[in-house]
Amino acid sequence: SAVEREQYRPLIHFTPQKAWMNDPNGMVYLNGTYHLFYQYYPDSTVWGPMHWGHATSKDLLHWEHQPVALYPDSLGYIFSGSAVVDAANTSGFGKDGKAPLVAVFTQHDPKGEKQGKTDFQNQSIAFSFDAGKTWTKYAGNPVLKNPGIKDFRDPKVSWNDDVKKWIMTLATKDRITFYSSPDLKSWTKESEFGANVGAHGGVWECPDLFPLNYEGKKHWVLLVNLNPGGPNGGSATQYFVGSFDGHAFKPYQTDTRWADYGPDEYAGVTWSNTGDRKIFLGWMSNWQYAQVVPTKTWRSAMTIPRDIRLEKVGDKYFLASKPVDELSAIAEKPLVFQNVDANDKRIANMKLSGAARLDLNAAKAESFSITLLNDKGQKVVIGYDKVSNQYYIDRTASGKVSFEKSFAAKHLARRLSTKDELNLTLVIDVASVELFADNGLTVMTEIFFPDEDYSHVNLQSTGSFALTSLSYAKLKAGR
Ligand code: FRU
Repeated sequence: SAVEREQYRPLIHFTPQKAWMNDPNGMVYLNGTYHLFYQYYPDSTVWGPMHWGHATSKDLLHWEHQPVALYPDSLGYIFSGSAVVDAANTSGFGKDGKAPLVAVFTQHDPKGEKQGKTDFQNQSIAFSFDAGKTWTKYAGNPVLKNPGIKDFRDPKVSWNDDVKKWIMTLATKDRITFYSSPDLKSWTKESEFGANVGAHGGVWECPDLFPLNYEGKKHWVLLVNLNPGGPNGGSATQYFVGSFDGHAFKPYQTDTRWADYGPDEYAGVTWSNTGDRKIFLGWMSNWQYAQVVPTKTWRSAMTIPRDIRLEKVGDKYFLASKPVDELSAIAEKPLVFQNVDANDKRIANMKLSGAARLDLNAAKAESFSITLLNDKGQKVVIGYDKVSNQYYIDRTASGKVSFEKSFAAKHLARRLSTKDELNLTLVIDVASVELFADNGLTVMTEIFFPDEDYSHVNLQSTGSFALTSLSYAKLKAGR
């Protein structure tokens, strides 16, 4: 079309039409539709009184904008939370045989905060019979009162079949507190998790708890978002693998793990009601600079939705992610090369216009780099360094970087795989790149703002990096 694309507006990532967005909220799959709610301030491009924005999709890539779903009220702003399908009508909200969709969220009272109170964040619920378009807030809100902990928020609720109750996973300062309920209205404290384990460089936020099977055995994953204190500065998503008996979570691990080592995935949680499939989505920014990035009419995008699963390295369980398979439906015919040297001319200067996906396999993990660049010499360099056994993304010279002092940097992530062979997928959009290495064991997400779109992808190696295969495809605009 003749209409100019807005600079930095992603082609295949979700963005609000206008104004400020942060965390994904209330993600639920209902009657063939994926619902995405999100932290939204419709009146500005910086954070403010929070609403829940709303969008729907059949394929996780093409999104339809819906009217704002939840507005602030006398109990406060609508902070992050989740949504569940109450199929058995445990809440009693059901009517005419219809199961309610129930949202559980934090209400943040800015007046209480100003007055220096400690109980200004409480949990409330609302229900909907029209797939999240309109909501009725429960007259008995809040349903879970604050016991005097300033940071007391982001309820993620799921049905637990072992105890036949709803379990709420709540961020409580630098701990996770689990609550249970028979009806989503009355909540009982079960246990606390987080002392002497995990990263504690900041406040714990936006948790998620869900089971994943590995070779027929059920394990539990606890996601805990952290701000600040991420592995590359600012906000990031850590996780724990362990057991959950319906009352308490016990981690198997003692080391700190990250769902994404890059600076630009935060508040990541999963869709509910998707059966055995677990789909993860994060906010593609960082609290360090989210409010000053150089986009004009809106701020922030979401990551590409990711299918997550467990992988074993040695005797330890790790979380692994890959872009959802739906992505292949928007891929054009790929350029495919087999058994090529990394310095082969055909892959040394591939054209890039818009969004693209690059997949490569190599029999041996040797150092290499992939550069996204434009004619102004601005670039992002993504690579692997064999000596330090680290993946990296360097956006030091990526274009506009001076809006915040920590933005121009090279970020690192340890390679977790111990295999000889290496594989990698890059999902490239006009203002972001997501790296999924070793079947998604190491993931890094990074945003950037070149003065002109990057127009080439350039693969290089100073060593003996040889590719068994490379596939490079343009991705058609989703959104
Ligand atoms: C995380 C967060 C949540 C909170 C929301 C407010 O980014 O700080 O803890 O509910 O954002 O917008």
